[in-house]
Amino acid sequence: MKGIILAGGSGTRLYPMTKVVSKQLIPIYDKPMIYYPLSMLLLAGIKDILIITTPSDKDLFETLLGDGSDLGVSFTYKIQDKPRGLADAFIIGADFIGSDSVCLILGDNIFYGQSMTNILYQASQLENGALVFGYPVKNPKDFGVVEFDKDKNVISIEEKPKQPKSKYAVPGLYFYDNKVVDIAKNIKPSKRGEIEITAINNEYLRRGELKVNLLGRGVAWFDTGTPVGLLNAAQYVETVQTRQGLYMSCIEEIAWRKGFIDTKKLMELGKSMKKTDYGKYIIEIAKEACG
Ligand code: DAU
Repeated sequence: MKGIILAGGSGTRLYPMTKVVSKQLIPIYDKPMIYYPLSMLLLAGIKDILIITTPSDKDLFETLLGDGSDLGVSFTYKIQDKPRGLADAFIIGADFIGSDSVCLILGDNIFYGQSMTNILYQASQLENGALVFGYPVKNPKDFGVVEFDKDKNVISIEEKPKQPKSKYAVPGLYFYDNKVVDIAKNIKPSKRGEIEITAINNEYLRRGELKVNLLGRGVAWFDTGTPVGLLNAAQYVETVQTRQGLYMSCIEEIAWRKGFIDTKKLMELGKSMKKTDYGKYIIEIAKEACG
């Protein structure tokens, strides 16, 4: 399975914060936002990852993440010249996807929870159809929303409905078989002028090939669309890390635990950041592994 991080968009909802720098590069507490979605792909065991950015931000992302070899994975970069919609990821990424299945994660979506590792691993085994998630929120109007019949079967997904038919939002983490490329190419723009991911999901639903897994209380999903959303996410990360002494979305640690890099490399990566608590944390893990 291939992975795509969609990290473009205009970021206008966070102006002036995002006037000169991509939203997905601003920090959530102690690391750039993109580390969080990237860590989900790594946890899913996905090693071949396409990062889609705006034309002006591509170099910055490449400087930050390189070609992936430091983490034992491969990063490819592509530009989206205009925010045409989330489904565009599969058109831009068509050659990259080739004949594989694919996981798309939005560059501004943050997940955390013990069950995530298992959820991601199971999802990455997908061969046919589509798998998305449902997550209960207080403000479903702001998202894609799942509609169920009385037997809890999914009957539709609506994009930002004025009158949501449930409290279950669809987070920005999607797993598809290879048909997604052709489906994306045939999506017509919505009223807001975007080719919507929701239209893709509804097409899979129409074909009887959409699975919606409901995420429970054990998983945290953050919306980083507003300054207060960003602050809440940062406070959550700080609280978890300080309390547990375990880091959230430390990509170097995950790459090592997954066996993508060895302990020597982990130590080298930690030492390159040894002035920070983040670097010290990595060094500590490498030292413990050495016994
Ligand atoms: O966060 C989950 C929600 O994401 C879903 O529930 C919705 O169904 C889905 O449409 C999307 O909703 P938003 O309208 O809130 O997405 P937004 O426009 O904020 O874009 C999400 C991320 O994708 C953001 O980091 C910018 C990036 N993006 C967006 C578009 C439209 C791109 O890179 N390119 C684009 O063309």
